[in-house]
Amino acid sequence: MTDTKKSATLSLNGESYELPIFSPTAGPDVLDIRKLYAQAGVFTYDPGFTSTASCDSTITFIDGNKGELLHRGYPIDQLAGKSHYLEVCYLLLYGELPTATQLEDFEGRVTRHTMVHEQMHNFFRGFRRDAHPMATLVGVVGAMSAFYHDSTDISDPWQREVASIRLIAKLPTIAAMAYKYSIGQPFVYPRNDLDYAANFLHMCFSVPAEDYNVNPILARAMDRIFTLHADHEQNASTSTVRLASSSGANPFACVAAGIACLWGPAHGGANQACLEMLKEIGTVDRIPEFIARAKDKNDPFRLMGFGHRVYKNTDPRATVLKQSADEVLELLGIEDNPLLQVAKELEQTALHDPYFIDKKLFPNVDFYSGIILEAMGFPTSMFTPIFTVARTVGWVSQWKEMIADPQNKIGRPRQLYLGETTRNYTDIENR
Ligand code: CMC
Repeated sequence: MTDTKKSATLSLNGESYELPIFSPTAGPDVLDIRKLYAQAGVFTYDPGFTSTASCDSTITFIDGNKGELLHRGYPIDQLAGKSHYLEVCYLLLYGELPTATQLEDFEGRVTRHTMVHEQMHNFFRGFRRDAHPMATLVGVVGAMSAFYHDSTDISDPWQREVASIRLIAKLPTIAAMAYKYSIGQPFVYPRNDLDYAANFLHMCFSVPAEDYNVNPILARAMDRIFTLHADHEQNASTSTVRLASSSGANPFACVAAGIACLWGPAHGGANQACLEMLKEIGTVDRIPEFIARAKDKNDPFRLMGFGHRVYKNTDPRATVLKQSADEVLELLGIEDNPLLQVAKELEQTALHDPYFIDKKLFPNVDFYSGIILEAMGFPTSMFTPIFTVARTVGWVSQWKEMIADPQNKIGRPRQLYLGETTRNYTDIENR
Protein backbone atom coordinates (compact mmCIF):
# COMPACT_ATOMS: atom_id res chain seq x y z
CA MET A 1 0.00 0.00 0.00
CA THR A 2 1.56 3.30 -1.08
CA ASP A 3 0.55 6.55 0.53
CA THR A 4 0.56 8.84 -2.50
CA LYS A 5 -0.43 11.93 -0.49
CA LYS A 6 -3.53 12.02 -2.68
CA SER A 7 -6.83 12.67 -0.97
CA ALA A 8 -10.52 13.16 -1.72
CA THR A 9 -12.74 15.78 -0.14
CA LEU A 10 -16.13 14.88 1.24
CA SER A 11 -18.58 17.74 1.78
CA LEU A 12 -21.21 17.00 4.37
CA ASN A 13 -23.56 19.34 6.21
CA GLY A 14 -21.40 22.34 5.37
CA GLU A 15 -18.17 20.72 6.58
CA SER A 16 -15.33 19.27 4.48
CA TYR A 17 -13.43 16.11 5.31
CA GLU A 18 -10.18 14.98 3.72
CA LEU A 19 -10.13 11.27 2.95
CA PRO A 20 -6.62 9.92 2.26
CA ILE A 21 -6.22 7.81 -0.89
CA PHE A 22 -4.01 4.75 -1.02
CA SER A 23 -2.61 3.53 -4.33
CA PRO A 24 -2.20 -0.24 -4.56
CA THR A 25 0.47 -1.95 -6.66
CA ALA A 26 -2.39 -2.96 -8.99
CA GLY A 27 -6.09 -2.16 -9.12
CA PRO A 28 -8.11 0.95 -8.33
CA ASP A 29 -7.16 3.52 -5.70
CA VAL A 30 -8.71 3.05 -2.26
CA LEU A 31 -10.31 5.76 -0.13
CA ASP A 32 -9.31 5.49 3.54
CA ILE A 33 -12.51 6.02 5.54
CA ARG A 34 -11.26 4.60 8.84
CA LYS A 35 -11.60 7.93 10.64
CA LEU A 36 -14.82 8.98 8.89
CA TYR A 37 -17.21 8.05 11.69
CA ALA A 38 -15.03 9.62 14.39
CA GLN A 39 -14.68 12.85 12.40
CA ALA A 40 -17.99 13.20 10.53
CA GLY A 41 -20.33 10.94 12.51
CA VAL A 42 -21.51 8.99 9.44
CA PHE A 43 -21.15 5.40 8.28
CA THR A 44 -20.73 4.20 4.72
CA TYR A 45 -23.31 1.82 3.26
CA ASP A 46 -22.18 -1.02 1.02
CA PRO A 47 -24.17 -4.28 1.34
CA GLY A 48 -22.36 -7.08 -0.45
CA PHE A 49 -19.09 -5.09 -0.16
CA THR A 50 -19.20 -4.17 -3.84
CA SER A 51 -16.99 -1.09 -3.29
CA THR A 52 -15.26 -1.87 -0.03
CA ALA A 53 -11.72 -3.14 0.52
CA SER A 54 -11.89 -5.08 3.78
CA CYS A 55 -8.12 -5.50 4.22
CA ASP A 56 -4.76 -5.07 2.51
CA SER A 57 -3.16 -8.19 1.09
CA THR A 58 -0.16 -9.25 -0.99
CA ILE A 59 -1.40 -12.71 -1.98
CA THR A 60 -3.81 -12.64 -4.93
CA PHE A 61 -4.91 -10.01 -7.42
CA ILE A 62 -7.83 -10.10 -9.85
CA ASP A 63 -8.46 -7.67 -12.70
CA GLY A 64 -12.05 -8.49 -13.56
CA ASN A 65 -12.12 -6.36 -16.71
CA LYS A 66 -8.98 -7.94 -18.16
CA GLY A 67 -9.92 -11.41 -16.93
CA GLU A 68 -6.63 -11.64 -15.03
CA LEU A 69 -5.85 -13.66 -11.89
CA LEU A 70 -2.39 -13.38 -10.29
CA HIS A 71 -1.00 -15.30 -7.32
CA ARG A 72 1.93 -13.36 -5.83
CA GLY A 73 2.17 -11.75 -9.29
CA TYR A 74 2.22 -14.96 -11.34
CA PRO A 75 -0.64 -15.37 -13.89
CA ILE A 76 -2.92 -18.33 -13.21
CA ASP A 77 -2.56 -19.75 -16.74
CA GLN A 78 1.24 -19.98 -16.27
CA LEU A 79 0.82 -21.65 -12.89
CA ALA A 80 -1.81 -24.08 -14.21
CA GLY A 81 0.36 -24.90 -17.24
CA LYS A 82 3.85 -25.09 -15.72
CA SER A 83 3.45 -25.58 -11.97
CA HIS A 84 1.45 -27.96 -9.79
CA TYR A 85 -0.81 -27.65 -6.79
CA LEU A 86 1.66 -28.08 -3.93
CA GLU A 87 4.10 -25.65 -5.51
CA VAL A 88 1.27 -23.12 -5.80
CA CYS A 89 0.41 -23.81 -2.14
CA TYR A 90 4.00 -22.94 -1.21
CA LEU A 91 3.80 -19.77 -3.30
CA LEU A 92 0.55 -18.66 -1.65
CA LEU A 93 1.75 -19.46 1.86
CA TYR A 94 5.29 -18.09 1.72
CA GLY A 95 5.22 -15.49 -1.06
CA GLU A 96 7.83 -16.88 -3.48
CA LEU A 97 8.22 -19.91 -5.73
CA PRO A 98 10.23 -22.55 -3.83
CA THR A 99 13.69 -23.79 -4.73
CA ALA A 100 13.92 -27.54 -5.41
CA THR A 101 15.05 -28.15 -1.81
CA GLN A 102 12.32 -25.99 -0.33
CA LEU A 103 9.70 -27.75 -2.44
CA GLU A 104 10.96 -31.19 -1.45
CA ASP A 105 10.87 -30.22 2.22
CA PHE A 106 7.36 -28.73 1.91
CA GLU A 107 5.98 -31.73 0.02
CA GLY A 108 7.50 -34.00 2.67
CA ARG A 109 5.86 -32.02 5.49
CA VAL A 110 2.43 -32.06 3.82
CA THR A 111 2.69 -35.74 2.93
CA ARG A 112 3.61 -36.77 6.50
CA HIS A 113 0.43 -35.08 7.79
CA THR A 114 -2.09 -36.74 5.47
CA MET A 115 -3.44 -39.27 7.99
CA VAL A 116 -6.11 -38.15 10.45
CA HIS A 117 -6.30 -39.07 14.13
CA GLU A 118 -7.67 -42.61 14.28
CA GLN A 119 -10.42 -41.54 16.71
CA MET A 120 -11.81 -39.33 13.96
CA HIS A 121 -13.15 -42.50 12.37
CA ASN A 122 -15.56 -42.77 15.32
CA PHE A 123 -16.53 -39.13 14.91
CA PHE A 124 -17.50 -39.79 11.26
CA ARG A 125 -19.74 -42.64 12.32
CA GLY A 126 -21.97 -40.20 14.20
CA PHE A 127 -23.22 -38.73 10.92
CA ARG A 128 -26.25 -40.16 9.11
CA ARG A 129 -24.91 -42.37 6.36
CA ASP A 130 -26.66 -40.29 3.67
CA ALA A 131 -25.23 -36.99 4.98
CA HIS A 132 -24.11 -34.56 2.29
CA PRO A 133 -20.27 -34.61 2.29
CA MET A 134 -20.25 -30.81 2.80
CA ALA A 135 -22.28 -31.21 6.01
CA THR A 136 -19.74 -33.77 7.17
CA LEU A 137 -16.83 -31.52 6.19
CA VAL A 138 -18.15 -28.54 8.15
CA GLY A 139 -18.47 -30.74 11.24
CA VAL A 140 -15.24 -32.69 10.93
CA VAL A 141 -13.02 -29.70 10.13
CA GLY A 142 -14.53 -27.79 13.07
CA ALA A 143 -13.83 -30.86 15.21
CA MET A 144 -10.14 -30.75 14.26
CA SER A 145 -9.86 -28.17 17.07
CA ALA A 146 -10.83 -30.98 19.45
CA PHE A 147 -8.31 -33.44 17.98
CA TYR A 148 -5.29 -31.16 17.49
CA HIS A 149 -5.09 -28.99 20.62
CA ASP A 150 -1.40 -28.48 20.11
CA SER A 151 -1.93 -26.23 17.07
CA THR A 152 -4.74 -23.93 18.21
CA ASP A 153 -2.70 -21.20 19.92
CA ILE A 154 -2.74 -18.50 17.26
CA SER A 155 -0.19 -16.35 19.09
CA ASP A 156 2.49 -19.02 18.50
CA PRO A 157 3.95 -18.87 14.95
CA TRP A 158 5.05 -22.53 15.18
CA GLN A 159 1.52 -23.68 16.03
CA ARG A 160 0.15 -21.53 13.21
CA GLU A 161 2.51 -23.26 10.81
CA VAL A 162 1.59 -26.76 12.03
CA ALA A 163 -2.13 -25.95 11.83
CA SER A 164 -1.65 -24.69 8.24
CA ILE A 165 0.14 -27.86 7.14
CA ARG A 166 -2.40 -30.05 8.93
CA LEU A 167 -5.32 -28.36 7.20
CA ILE A 168 -3.77 -28.57 3.72
CA ALA A 169 -2.64 -32.17 4.25
CA LYS A 170 -5.75 -33.58 5.91
CA LEU A 171 -8.53 -31.93 3.89
CA PRO A 172 -8.23 -34.43 0.98
CA THR A 173 -8.32 -37.31 3.48
CA ILE A 174 -11.37 -35.88 5.26
CA ALA A 175 -13.19 -35.11 1.99
CA ALA A 176 -12.49 -38.63 0.69
CA MET A 177 -13.66 -40.13 4.00
CA ALA A 178 -16.87 -38.08 3.82
CA TYR A 179 -17.45 -39.51 0.34
CA LYS A 180 -16.67 -43.11 1.30
CA TYR A 181 -18.93 -42.81 4.32
CA SER A 182 -21.80 -41.48 2.18
CA ILE A 183 -21.61 -44.50 -0.15
CA GLY A 184 -21.06 -47.10 2.55
CA GLN A 185 -17.51 -48.06 1.56
CA PRO A 186 -14.57 -48.44 3.97
CA PHE A 187 -12.27 -45.47 4.51
CA VAL A 188 -9.09 -45.65 2.45
CA TYR A 189 -5.83 -44.56 4.11
CA PRO A 190 -3.62 -42.09 2.23
CA ARG A 191 -0.63 -43.35 0.24
CA ASN A 192 2.46 -41.22 0.72
CA ASP A 193 4.10 -42.50 -2.46
CA LEU A 194 1.46 -40.71 -4.53
CA ASP A 195 1.32 -37.00 -5.20
CA TYR A 196 -1.42 -34.82 -3.67
CA ALA A 197 -3.98 -35.16 -6.51
CA ALA A 198 -3.27 -38.84 -7.27
CA ASN A 199 -3.55 -39.69 -3.58
CA PHE A 200 -6.94 -37.97 -3.45
CA LEU A 201 -8.22 -40.04 -6.40
CA HIS A 202 -6.84 -43.15 -4.71
CA MET A 203 -8.64 -42.37 -1.43
CA CYS A 204 -11.91 -41.69 -3.31
CA PHE A 205 -11.94 -44.52 -5.83
CA SER A 206 -9.91 -47.46 -4.54
CA VAL A 207 -11.43 -50.26 -2.48
CA PRO A 208 -9.57 -52.86 -0.38
CA ALA A 209 -10.92 -55.70 -2.54
CA GLU A 210 -8.97 -54.87 -5.69
CA ASP A 211 -6.05 -52.95 -7.16
CA TYR A 212 -6.62 -49.40 -8.31
CA ASN A 213 -4.15 -47.61 -10.53
CA VAL A 214 -4.49 -43.86 -10.75
CA ASN A 215 -4.62 -42.67 -14.36
CA PRO A 216 -1.89 -39.99 -14.64
CA ILE A 217 -3.95 -37.87 -17.04
CA LEU A 218 -6.85 -37.81 -14.60
CA ALA A 219 -4.44 -37.05 -11.74
CA ARG A 220 -3.07 -34.14 -13.78
CA ALA A 221 -6.63 -32.86 -14.44
CA MET A 222 -7.41 -33.19 -10.71
CA ASP A 223 -4.24 -31.28 -9.85
CA ARG A 224 -5.24 -28.56 -12.29
CA ILE A 225 -8.70 -28.24 -10.71
CA PHE A 226 -7.01 -27.88 -7.30
CA THR A 227 -4.54 -25.32 -8.68
CA LEU A 228 -7.25 -23.21 -10.33
CA HIS A 229 -9.34 -23.06 -7.14
CA ALA A 230 -6.47 -22.45 -4.70
CA ASP A 231 -7.19 -18.81 -3.87
CA HIS A 232 -9.38 -15.98 -5.11
CA GLU A 233 -8.64 -12.95 -2.93
CA GLN A 234 -11.43 -11.59 -0.69
CA ASN A 235 -14.35 -13.77 -1.87
CA ALA A 236 -17.23 -14.64 0.48
CA SER A 237 -15.68 -17.72 2.12
CA THR A 238 -12.24 -16.12 2.51
CA SER A 239 -13.82 -13.03 4.03
CA THR A 240 -15.75 -15.37 6.34
CA VAL A 241 -12.50 -17.01 7.46
CA ARG A 242 -10.91 -13.59 8.03
CA LEU A 243 -13.93 -12.28 9.96
CA ALA A 244 -14.15 -15.42 12.11
CA SER A 245 -10.43 -15.31 12.88
CA SER A 246 -10.50 -11.58 13.67
CA SER A 247 -12.04 -12.57 17.00
CA GLY A 248 -9.04 -14.79 17.77
CA ALA A 249 -10.85 -18.07 17.05
CA ASN A 250 -8.63 -21.07 16.24
CA PRO A 251 -7.82 -21.87 12.59
CA PHE A 252 -9.85 -25.10 12.41
CA ALA A 253 -13.00 -23.32 13.61
CA CYS A 254 -12.35 -20.47 11.15
CA VAL A 255 -11.84 -22.79 8.18
CA ALA A 256 -15.03 -24.66 9.15
CA ALA A 257 -16.83 -21.29 8.93
CA GLY A 258 -15.29 -20.76 5.48
CA ILE A 259 -16.49 -24.19 4.37
CA ALA A 260 -20.04 -23.37 5.51
CA CYS A 261 -19.95 -20.21 3.40
CA LEU A 262 -18.45 -21.94 0.37
CA TRP A 263 -21.30 -24.46 0.37
CA GLY A 264 -23.87 -21.90 -0.90
CA PRO A 265 -24.98 -22.14 -4.55
CA ALA A 266 -23.91 -18.56 -5.33
CA HIS A 267 -20.33 -19.53 -4.35
CA GLY A 268 -18.69 -22.98 -4.27
CA GLY A 269 -22.02 -24.79 -4.43
CA ALA A 270 -22.45 -23.53 -8.00
CA ASN A 271 -20.54 -26.48 -9.49
CA GLN A 272 -23.06 -28.94 -8.06
CA ALA A 273 -25.97 -26.64 -8.95
CA CYS A 274 -24.63 -26.29 -12.50
CA LEU A 275 -24.45 -30.03 -13.15
CA GLU A 276 -27.90 -30.52 -11.64
CA MET A 277 -29.20 -27.77 -13.93
CA LEU A 278 -27.66 -29.47 -16.99
CA LYS A 279 -29.38 -32.71 -15.95
CA GLU A 280 -32.68 -30.88 -15.49
CA ILE A 281 -32.38 -29.34 -18.97
CA GLY A 282 -31.67 -32.87 -20.21
CA THR A 283 -31.81 -32.33 -23.97
CA VAL A 284 -30.58 -29.63 -26.31
CA ASP A 285 -34.10 -28.75 -27.49
CA ARG A 286 -35.03 -27.56 -23.97
CA ILE A 287 -32.22 -24.96 -23.81
CA PRO A 288 -34.33 -22.05 -25.15
CA GLU A 289 -36.87 -22.61 -22.36
CA PHE A 290 -34.16 -22.34 -19.69
CA ILE A 291 -32.50 -19.35 -21.35
CA ALA A 292 -35.91 -17.62 -21.35
CA ARG A 293 -36.34 -18.42 -17.65
CA ALA A 294 -32.88 -17.03 -16.82
CA LYS A 295 -33.85 -13.74 -18.51
CA ASP A 296 -37.29 -13.52 -16.89
CA LYS A 297 -37.23 -10.95 -14.06
CA ASN A 298 -40.14 -12.74 -12.36
CA ASP A 299 -38.37 -16.09 -12.30
CA PRO A 300 -35.63 -16.56 -9.67
CA PHE A 301 -33.89 -19.12 -11.92
CA ARG A 302 -30.31 -18.24 -12.95
CA LEU A 303 -28.01 -20.08 -15.30
CA MET A 304 -25.65 -21.76 -12.86
CA GLY A 305 -22.00 -21.56 -13.85
CA PHE A 306 -22.51 -18.16 -15.53
CA GLY A 307 -21.58 -14.72 -14.22
CA HIS A 308 -19.15 -13.51 -11.63
CA ARG A 309 -18.99 -10.61 -9.21
CA VAL A 310 -15.49 -9.62 -10.32
CA TYR A 311 -14.86 -11.10 -13.79
CA LYS A 312 -16.66 -9.08 -16.43
CA ASN A 313 -14.74 -10.32 -19.46
CA THR A 314 -13.65 -13.93 -19.06
CA ASP A 315 -12.90 -16.09 -16.06
CA PRO A 316 -9.25 -17.06 -16.73
CA ARG A 317 -9.72 -20.24 -14.70
CA ALA A 318 -12.58 -21.24 -17.00
CA THR A 319 -10.35 -20.80 -20.07
CA VAL A 320 -7.81 -23.30 -18.68
CA LEU A 321 -10.47 -25.73 -17.47
CA LYS A 322 -12.32 -25.72 -20.79
CA GLN A 323 -9.15 -27.11 -22.37
CA SER A 324 -8.76 -29.62 -19.53
CA ALA A 325 -12.37 -30.71 -20.01
CA ASP A 326 -11.71 -31.44 -23.68
CA GLU A 327 -8.62 -33.52 -22.79
CA VAL A 328 -10.39 -35.54 -20.09
CA LEU A 329 -13.45 -36.21 -22.22
CA GLU A 330 -11.31 -37.34 -25.12
CA LEU A 331 -9.27 -39.60 -22.85
CA LEU A 332 -12.40 -41.15 -21.40
CA GLY A 333 -14.04 -41.36 -24.84
CA ILE A 334 -17.25 -39.69 -23.72
CA GLU A 335 -17.44 -36.71 -26.04
CA ASP A 336 -20.91 -37.78 -27.14
CA ASN A 337 -22.44 -37.80 -23.67
CA PRO A 338 -25.89 -36.05 -23.86
CA LEU A 339 -25.12 -33.96 -20.77
CA LEU A 340 -21.98 -32.62 -22.40
CA GLN A 341 -23.88 -31.84 -25.56
CA VAL A 342 -26.31 -29.78 -23.47
CA ALA A 343 -23.36 -28.05 -21.77
CA LYS A 344 -21.63 -27.19 -25.06
CA GLU A 345 -24.84 -25.97 -26.70
CA LEU A 346 -25.85 -23.94 -23.65
CA GLU A 347 -22.43 -22.30 -23.52
CA GLN A 348 -22.64 -21.29 -27.20
CA THR A 349 -26.26 -20.09 -26.93
CA ALA A 350 -25.50 -17.93 -23.88
CA LEU A 351 -22.27 -16.55 -25.35
CA HIS A 352 -24.23 -15.24 -28.37
CA ASP A 353 -27.32 -14.02 -26.53
CA PRO A 354 -27.54 -10.20 -26.09
CA TYR A 355 -28.85 -10.57 -22.49
CA PHE A 356 -25.73 -12.44 -21.40
CA ILE A 357 -23.41 -10.31 -23.53
CA ASP A 358 -24.83 -7.01 -22.20
CA LYS A 359 -24.67 -8.14 -18.58
CA LYS A 360 -21.18 -9.57 -19.12
CA LEU A 361 -22.22 -13.06 -18.03
CA PHE A 362 -19.64 -15.61 -19.15
CA PRO A 363 -19.15 -19.25 -18.16
CA ASN A 364 -17.21 -19.33 -14.90
CA VAL A 365 -14.86 -21.93 -13.44
CA ASP A 366 -17.76 -23.94 -12.03
CA PHE A 367 -19.27 -24.51 -15.46
CA TYR A 368 -16.30 -26.59 -16.63
CA SER A 369 -15.12 -28.10 -13.34
CA GLY A 370 -18.46 -29.88 -12.92
CA ILE A 371 -18.19 -31.38 -16.41
CA ILE A 372 -14.70 -32.76 -15.68
CA LEU A 373 -15.59 -34.09 -12.24
CA GLU A 374 -18.72 -35.80 -13.59
CA ALA A 375 -16.62 -37.43 -16.33
CA MET A 376 -14.10 -38.62 -13.70
CA GLY A 377 -16.89 -40.42 -11.88
CA PHE A 378 -17.51 -38.08 -8.96
CA PRO A 379 -21.15 -37.64 -7.87
CA THR A 380 -22.35 -34.02 -7.86
CA SER A 381 -22.37 -34.00 -4.05
CA MET A 382 -18.54 -34.23 -4.15
CA PHE A 383 -18.03 -31.19 -6.39
CA THR A 384 -18.11 -28.59 -3.61
CA PRO A 385 -15.99 -30.75 -1.24
CA ILE A 386 -13.33 -30.84 -3.98
CA PHE A 387 -13.49 -27.05 -4.24
CA THR A 388 -13.10 -27.02 -0.44
CA VAL A 389 -9.95 -29.15 -0.55
CA ALA A 390 -8.42 -26.80 -3.11
CA ARG A 391 -9.43 -23.53 -1.41
CA THR A 392 -8.12 -24.55 2.01
CA VAL A 393 -4.66 -23.23 1.15
CA GLY A 394 -6.17 -19.88 0.14
CA TRP A 395 -8.04 -19.58 3.43
CA VAL A 396 -4.96 -20.60 5.39
CA SER A 397 -2.67 -18.17 3.53
CA GLN A 398 -5.09 -15.27 4.04
CA TRP A 399 -5.55 -16.24 7.70
CA LYS A 400 -1.79 -16.34 8.28
CA GLU A 401 -1.35 -12.99 6.59
CA MET A 402 -4.05 -11.47 8.75
CA ILE A 403 -2.82 -12.90 12.07
CA ALA A 404 0.71 -11.66 11.39
CA ASP A 405 -0.58 -8.12 10.66
CA PRO A 406 -0.10 -5.86 13.72
CA GLN A 407 -3.08 -3.77 12.55
CA ASN A 408 -5.40 -6.77 12.87
CA LYS A 409 -8.54 -5.90 14.86
CA ILE A 410 -11.89 -7.60 15.27
CA GLY A 411 -14.14 -7.15 12.23
CA ARG A 412 -17.27 -5.31 13.23
CA PRO A 413 -19.37 -3.82 10.41
CA ARG A 414 -21.94 -1.11 11.10
CA GLN A 415 -25.52 -1.01 9.81
CA LEU A 416 -28.22 1.23 8.40
CA TYR A 417 -30.89 0.65 11.05
CA LEU A 418 -34.46 0.84 9.72
CA GLY A 419 -36.32 -0.79 12.62
CA GLU A 420 -38.47 0.68 15.41
CA THR A 421 -37.06 3.39 17.64
CA THR A 422 -37.36 3.07 21.43
CA ARG A 423 -40.84 2.01 22.59
CA ASN A 424 -42.22 0.73 25.88
CA TYR A 425 -42.91 -2.92 26.58
CA THR A 426 -46.63 -3.80 26.44
CA ASP A 427 -47.96 -6.40 28.89
CA ILE A 428 -49.32 -9.49 27.13
CA GLU A 429 -52.95 -8.86 28.12
CA ASN A 430 -52.83 -5.42 26.48
CA ARG A 431 -51.52 -6.49 23.05
N1 CMC B 1 -28.16 -16.09 -14.97
C1 CMC B 1 -29.02 -15.11 -15.33
N2 CMC B 1 -28.88 -13.83 -14.96
C2 CMC B 1 -27.85 -13.50 -14.18
C3 CMC B 1 -26.89 -14.47 -13.77
C4 CMC B 1 -27.08 -15.79 -14.19
N3 CMC B 1 -26.22 -16.75 -13.82
N4 CMC B 1 -25.96 -13.87 -13.00
C5 CMC B 1 -26.29 -12.58 -12.92
N5 CMC B 1 -27.44 -12.35 -13.64
C6 CMC B 1 -28.08 -11.05 -13.86
C7 CMC B 1 -28.85 -10.61 -12.63
O1 CMC B 1 -30.21 -11.02 -12.67
C8 CMC B 1 -28.70 -9.11 -12.68
O2 CMC B 1 -29.64 -8.63 -13.63
P1 CMC B 1 -30.28 -7.16 -13.44
O3 CMC B 1 -29.14 -6.19 -13.49
O4 CMC B 1 -31.22 -7.04 -14.59
O5 CMC B 1 -30.96 -7.17 -12.11
C9 CMC B 1 -27.31 -8.90 -13.28
O6 CMC B 1 -27.03 -10.10 -14.04
C10 CMC B 1 -26.21 -8.71 -12.23
O7 CMC B 1 -26.32 -9.78 -11.29
P2 CMC B 1 -25.95 -9.63 -9.76
O8 CMC B 1 -26.63 -10.71 -8.99
O9 CMC B 1 -26.16 -8.22 -9.32
O10 CMC B 1 -24.38 -9.89 -9.82
P3 CMC B 1 -23.49 -10.36 -8.60
O11 CMC B 1 -22.14 -9.86 -8.90
O12 CMC B 1 -24.11 -9.98 -7.30
O13 CMC B 1 -23.56 -11.96 -8.71
C11 CMC B 1 -23.03 -14.21 -9.07
C12 CMC B 1 -22.51 -12.77 -9.12
C13 CMC B 1 -21.85 -15.16 -9.36
C14 CMC B 1 -23.55 -14.53 -7.66
C15 CMC B 1 -24.16 -14.39 -10.11
O14 CMC B 1 -23.66 -14.13 -11.41
C16 CMC B 1 -24.79 -15.78 -10.05
O15 CMC B 1 -25.71 -16.01 -9.24
N6 CMC B 1 -24.29 -16.73 -10.91
C17 CMC B 1 -24.75 -18.11 -10.84
C18 CMC B 1 -24.05 -18.84 -9.71
C19 CMC B 1 -22.60 -19.16 -10.03
O16 CMC B 1 -22.29 -19.67 -11.10
N7 CMC B 1 -21.71 -18.90 -9.05
C20 CMC B 1 -20.30 -19.25 -9.16
C21 CMC B 1 -19.39 -18.08 -9.13
S1 CMC B 1 -17.72 -18.57 -9.61
C22 CMC B 1 -17.15 -19.54 -8.28
C23 CMC B 1 -16.89 -18.76 -7.05
O17 CMC B 1 -16.05 -17.85 -7.10
O18 CMC B 1 -17.50 -19.08 -6.03
